[in-house]
Amino acid sequence: MRTYLVTGGAGFIGSNYIHYMFRKYGDEIRVINVDCLTYAGNLENLKGVEDRENYVFVKADIRDREAIEKIFAEYDVDRVVHFAAESHVDRSIRNPEIFVETNVLGTLVMLNAAKKAWETQDGGFLPDKKFLHVSTDEVYGSLEEGDTYFYETSPIDPHSPYSASKASSDMLVKAYIDTYKFPANITNCSNNYGPYQFPEKLIPLIINNALQGKKLPVYGDGKNVRDWLYVDDHAKAIDLVQEKGRLGERYNIGGHNEKQNIEIIHIILDTLQEMLPEGDPRKALVSRDLITYVEDRKGHDRRYAIAPDKIKEEIGWYPKTMFQEGIRLTIQWFFEHEEWMKHVTSGDYQKYYAEMYQA
Ligand code: NAD
Ligand code: DAU
Repeated sequence: MRTYLVTGGAGFIGSNYIHYMFRKYGDEIRVINVDCLTYAGNLENLKGVEDRENYVFVKADIRDREAIEKIFAEYDVDRVVHFAAESHVDRSIRNPEIFVETNVLGTLVMLNAAKKAWETQDGGFLPDKKFLHVSTDEVYGSLEEGDTYFYETSPIDPHSPYSASKASSDMLVKAYIDTYKFPANITNCSNNYGPYQFPEKLIPLIINNALQGKKLPVYGDGKNVRDWLYVDDHAKAIDLVQEKGRLGERYNIGGHNEKQNIEIIHIILDTLQEMLPEGDPRKALVSRDLITYVEDRKGHDRRYAIAPDKIKEEIGWYPKTMFQEGIRLTIQWFFEHEEWMKHVTSGDYQKYYAEMYQA
């Protein structure tokens, strides 16, 4: 039975990945989920898998070398899938330190622990051991209108403290590949959306606010472009890269689904109107009048757009869920998980929201 060590598996993409892997492989795999449960980590995201005999949760911080080495000593780990990170750009602008600590130093701890567990006496590595570092398209910086796409060969040019910390962690992984022939891959994915996404990010924030008749904050002119991918398609890509990718390679992941932020907000409002049943009191609240232009994000990247040619050609990955379908699935999920939203938006979220949006 192959053993996966997943870091950050209680977060948005990590939990979707774990659900995806159990749907695909069932009892053929074992998953060890290591997460220290920051504000973004939520064990409610793992309902349905937590009782499985082939699933283990370990509450630990990836910066804690001893704790991470203990996991490698206890389990014969075959695959590391490294999601754990501080992931929100706005938070990084307010408090960069934790981004460097978690994203850079935490990644170094993970690399060293895997290297120690997997290296052989002749300086090589045990067979069929693989480390996948989950990264972002933001490391490539910002495109302007008229530019083409981010390719794997595009210059690394991060602008926010978040993207600088992710670029630094990518560089460390690359250094381990180049120096030690460490068996790793890096993936750089575009913006994800779907179930379990924390409502500090654009799509769940807009869905949640619109359903309550609260203002919908649009940064700047609303014309910044992001390239949106349904989270299950990201999970599938990660699995395929580990199975079929060439070791040491970087793969971009994205589905050519570029949209301006204001377009996304219009689509969400229209879809909510279509999906809410007649007589539902929330129907009267959902309105374009809620759209409120607010101060722009500092250093706001204008456009992200991924060229996924390499992963398509080499591995045969393609996105299955088109945006119109993905946004409906996402909204339906939020309709069915009101309690989840209530839980994650209580407490600290209220404080964050009030500080961030002066609301
Ligand atoms: P998230 O913020 O929802 O989840 C992060 C998880 O990591 C949480 O469960 C948190 O508790 C855990 N974590 C944070 N610090 C930790 C630490 N020190 N030790 C152990 N666990 C810790 O993030 P996400 O959106 O799911 O992103 C996951 C990964 O994917 C990140 O590396 C991010 O950079 C990358 N990524 C995200 C997107 C996106 O659109 N969300 C796109 C491309 C890449
Ligand atoms: O591109 C991949 C990245 O996508 C990931 O690496 C990050 O972890 C993830 O958070 C995401 O970063 P973005 O900054 O692009 O996502 P966010 O949802 O925060 O914002 C999307 C766009 O919407 C961005 O242009 C800022 C804008 N925005 C965001 C919020 C929260 C608003 O206009 N209003 C808002 O309230």
